[in-house]
Amino acid sequence: MADRRFTRRQVIAGAAPALAALPMAGLVAAPALSGGPPAASAAHPSLGHAAMAGDVVPAPGGPGDLDDLLTPPPALPHRPGRVRRYTLAAIDRDIEVAAGVTFPAWTYNGTVPGPVIRATEDDILEVEFTNAGSHPHTIHFHGIHPANMDGVFEIVEPGGSFTYRFPARPYGMQLYHCHAAPLKKHIHKGLYGAFIIDPPTPRRPAREIVLVMNGYDTDGDGENNFYSVNGRAFYYAKYPIRVRRSETLRIYLANLTEFDLINSFHLHGEFFRYYRTGSTDQFEYTDTVMQCQGERGIIEIDWHNAGRFMFHAHQSEFTDLGWMGFFDVADD
Ligand code: CU
Ligand code: CU
Repeated sequence: MADRRFTRRQVIAGAAPALAALPMAGLVAAPALSGGPPAASAAHPSLGHAAMAGDVVPAPGGPGDLDDLLTPPPALPHRPGRVRRYTLAAIDRDIEVAAGVTFPAWTYNGTVPGPVIRATEDDILEVEFTNAGSHPHTIHFHGIHPANMDGVFEIVEPGGSFTYRFPARPYGMQLYHCHAAPLKKHIHKGLYGAFIIDPPTPRRPAREIVLVMNGYDTDGDGENNFYSVNGRAFYYAKYPIRVRRSETLRIYLANLTEFDLINSFHLHGEFFRYYRTGSTDQFEYTDTVMQCQGERGIIEIDWHNAGRFMFHAHQSEFTDLGWMGFFDVADD
């Protein structure tokens, strides 16, 4: 166990200087000295989160790149029996998960996480799935549905296809992921996404975003080297999410991290309502929530103050390895 932890600390130790000096190629090149002496505390200095904002942050991609994953399709009014169609394809694709760091992902439609699927309760969800990847895959949805729509026994071979069709229920923040074996690998490689089911009575108006927490084992040692929300380390530190103080911010949050049993979301300077799974009206008022693997919920923030507020995993190690960002709250 000590060796496993140490391996990852080496990566952290290698990350700090690399983050300070672009490019970050040194990150992947940093050797895992699992047999070496323990690193001195001076060997892994703080990254200086407060300063880690804006253009100085070595996050991959440009502004707006993740908008399709951040902003869900709009909620539609309750109309039982309406068909909601989505098309998903499993595609092998190398993606840049941290600046200069490529991960050989298995994706739905080319991104990790996959596209946000949204339906209103009692819609008929119809998802046409094609396996254009190199391994057998499925789509397993969380929620209530017939046994033959569960994506466990209906394995779709490469080149094959399958259409999932079932009424969307219950309302809440659900999720979907591949359920082919070995499960840990198929999920970790990137086959997952957010699945929102809206209640029959609409939620009150809000600015809505999706944050899917994940991790990447980029050196194949069975533990994560990077963490993110919506797929790219430090992305929302480089490009803070702009919100209005007068507008409730609703976050659909899910945890698809493999290898680490829990992940968490912590917001600075503010409290929020947290609806676990989002399928009832019950909430808790807090500033930190933790989610086990596959857990999800809905956060609602009513801002008291304008300004820049950090959000991040409260596992500090995850923060240092990419899972952090900012909300820029504008007074209006
Ligand atoms: Cu799979
Ligand atoms: Cu699951």
